[in-house]
Amino acid sequence: MSSLIEQAAHRLEQLRRAGAAMPEPAIAEVLKSTAHLEPAAPIAKLAPDTANAPSTPAQKSQRVEINLDALAAAGIVSPNAPRSQIADQYRVIKRPLISIAMGKGATLIENGNLIMVTSSLPGEGKSFTAINLAISIAAELDNTVMLVDADVARPSVLRVLGLQPGPGLLDLLLDDSADLSTMLLKTNIEKLTILPSGTPHERATEMLASDAMSRLLADMGKRYSDRIIVFDSPPLLLTTESRVLATHMGQIVMVVQAEKTRRSDVQEALATIEACPVKMMVLNQARSTMTGGYGYGYGYGYGKSYGYGKKPS
Ligand SMILES: Nc1ncnc2c1ncn2[C@@H]1O[C@H](COP(=O)(O)OP(=O)(O)O)[C@@H](O)[C@H]1O
Ligand SMILES: [Mg+2]
Repeated sequence: MSSLIEQAAHRLEQLRRAGAAMPEPAIAEVLKSTAHLEPAAPIAKLAPDTANAPSTPAQKSQRVEINLDALAAAGIVSPNAPRSQIADQYRVIKRPLISIAMGKGATLIENGNLIMVTSSLPGEGKSFTAINLAISIAAELDNTVMLVDADVARPSVLRVLGLQPGPGLLDLLLDDSADLSTMLLKTNIEKLTILPSGTPHERATEMLASDAMSRLLADMGKRYSDRIIVFDSPPLLLTTESRVLATHMGQIVMVVQAEKTRRSDVQEALATIEACPVKMMVLNQARSTMTGGYGYGYGYGYGKSYGYGKKPS
């Protein structure tokens, strides 16, 4: 289990010892951390009519509740903790991305509203970054944000947010007649909608490079041109499909794990996304200590054809 959850569970145990009333075990791990805050409510609920049939497309977009206090307790950006350190960090990270997405940069970037979060390898913080970025943008901006879980082989967005699995991207790619809007989850973060990765499929990642995916992205671009779409995605060095996905994006956020990702891997990964007009690096310093604390830091560089990876010194 992730250390975020362990930390949350530890906190729960402390509360339990302190005598706080505890509900039954919750549906989501993160819920355990903050169940004391809302004893009656699970961290997230699907609409009752679809709760038992997660892979059946609903007629219209469903509404889900994210436990915003649980998010904050797990160290994720939450509207309930606007002054947290993580919220401050993502304020800085998102600014240039928003400005380009809204066409306010020096040059107009095609598909600037399509932002892919990726990295060289698994476990470097892509999902963590994509989720924080999407919530951070949704919390402040006039525009709606769609968070797409496109790491279809290792999806984690719903789990991290404490939401139950349901249909999504893969179902759309397999069924031409499926409607994107019916797969979208509206959340209690007013401007945040989520497109889950969908029903697991053995050739999931391959589908990201399909014609159906190109059509879907074009459709998204047309129907949701006014919203920022953040894609959590597979790592660049393990799958060529991720690189194909990258060719559709106006902006790419490359997550680099501090003191872990090898320079040669960063270079190789950047070389695969050379064609993307805007690349930004987030240096993710996830570091857990024996006391359960986390270090977090970042650095970034971006720009039109930003040359970070071209001539590393
Ligand atoms: N900056 C951070 N602070 C705390 N935990 C982090 C941070 N970045 C990543 N993590 C944790 O590290 C693990 C791997 O990150 P994840 O985003 O799932 O990686 P990826 O999506 O690239 O495979 C997760 O448990 C995540 O919660
Ligand atoms: Mg991930």
